[in-house]
Amino acid sequence: MPSSPNHDALQTLLGRYSVGPKHLLEPGPSNEELALMVAAALRAPDHGELLPFRFKRVAGEARQRMADLFAAAARAAGKDEAGAAMDAERALRPPLTVAVVARIDLGHPQVPAHEQWACVGGALSNFLNAAHCLGYGGKMLSGAKVRDPGITAAFCSPGEILLGWIALGTPAKRASGPSRKGGVEQALQDWG
Ligand SMILES: Cc1cc2nc3c(=O)[nH]c(=O)nc-3n(C[C@H](O)[C@H](O)[C@H](O)COP(=O)(O)O)c2cc1C
Repeated sequence: MPSSPNHDALQTLLGRYSVGPKHLLEPGPSNEELALMVAAALRAPDHGELLPFRFKRVAGEARQRMADLFAAAARAAGKDEAGAAMDAERALRPPLTVAVVARIDLGHPQVPAHEQWACVGGALSNFLNAAHCLGYGGKMLSGAKVRDPGITAAFCSPGEILLGWIALGTPAKRASGPSRKGGVEQALQDWG
């Protein structure tokens, strides 16, 4: 492979895998590190500079409030108290959780919704890559609770969509290998 000043950075990116909450320990990213991760997210291609995403930090006491919301959503979905407690635990386990909210302008005259979603995805990837570069593990999580009315009201302004939450922390173990099915051969095809 040709060597270039950014080759090490690319090798680092090629080693990013999601790390689930079970394997995330303290410490989580500091505020300064979180700001760097958001700065990386802001480097996602953004047609029209619409900024179709927001990140919402859930730290400190807010984690308990989110846990209460998760438990309420679980009960509303018909889960018993053990299930509600398990869902509440999901909010409390990661050292840091960051909600990802999309604001898609459906009536935009130049930038259709799918281009705005592409930006949201790029921002999410850049965010996770930055966390990885800083030595943190993370995983994007959603589930049916992103559509729970109490939860969406708590995280979203009218017109916004809650994509889910990024769980962040120090990885307890190195991610063990590629999770992708298929690979470059599948994802890269000749055209024409
Ligand atoms: C918007 C979004 C929501 C997701 N929600 C979940 C989820 O609720 N549970 C889950 O196990 N994986 C979820 N995933 C997938 C994981 O975040 C992760 O990408 C997947 O496990 C593949 O791991 P990798 O990132 O190491 O390739 C979601 C991914 C995205 C982009």
